[in-house]
Amino acid sequence: MATIIDGKKIALEAREKIRLEIDELKNAGKRLPGLVVIIVGEDPASKVYVRNKKMACEKAGFVHRQINLPAESTEEQLLTEIQALNKDSEIDGILVQLPLPKHINEDNIISSIDPEKDVDGFHPVNVGKLVLGQEAFVPCTPLGVMKMLAISDIDLSGKEVVVIGRSNIVGKPMSLLALQKAQGANATVTICHSRTQNIEEVIARADVVVAAIGIPKFVKAHMVKEGAVVIDVGVNRLEDGSLCGDVDFDAIQSKASAITPVPGGVGPMTIAMLLNNTLQSRMNKERT
Ligand code: GUN
Repeated sequence: MATIIDGKKIALEAREKIRLEIDELKNAGKRLPGLVVIIVGEDPASKVYVRNKKMACEKAGFVHRQINLPAESTEEQLLTEIQALNKDSEIDGILVQLPLPKHINEDNIISSIDPEKDVDGFHPVNVGKLVLGQEAFVPCTPLGVMKMLAISDIDLSGKEVVVIGRSNIVGKPMSLLALQKAQGANATVTICHSRTQNIEEVIARADVVVAAIGIPKFVKAHMVKEGAVVIDVGVNRLEDGSLCGDVDFDAIQSKASAITPVPGGVGPMTIAMLLNNTLQSRMNKERT
């Protein structure tokens, strides 16, 4: 039977550590980390994510501001907001919740954020640094996966890691992190996507599977190797309102050596890593 990797518990521990660092800043009379979250429109899933981020910031003692813009807002309006926040010395992190309405060019928006405040790690400068193995803000979800693996004593060195999904938010940065010449990484990485041929054969090779494809229960028990580690990044809302991952958890549980549940797996880690990156941004300024 697989060990269930308890993301909720690991995330709470990470958040507690962050809270202690906030206490230190407070005791020293120093400015607390500030995060601004911008949401454009009324996408229900985005609203839930943004609310969770707000609650986490408030609990941790961060300064949090939320900017709600109507769905009809222009790209210029959003750019104007970001330019003001780039200059605001009280603000360490700027997060524009994705996806944006179709008429707004996401690349333009992400590129307009000061890379030093890009706590999502989506700016081309931070992506480039990640590719080169330089210190950078790393996207929160894959960073959370690496943290979960480290805390669970799962070392990727020399392992076959198969990432299913090639998104900029999860698949690509996840692959780069697993590939890094760094403690806990050094994996042999394969990225699968909708055009991959013989995908089941590729997944069957994996010592570690990271599923981020957005299809409920895509990864079935017959696809995974006995003893594989299975990380489920999927958050799919089913018709009955329940949440379901990209992995058939019940069937794989008896075959994998370790597995993350949905909910309570990767999801809570994403928020903990957002706090981590925002605190990091604050501390970077302390050093300069
Ligand atoms: N939409 C889904 N995941 C994310 C994320 O990590 N950051 C942002 N900004 N938008 C998202």
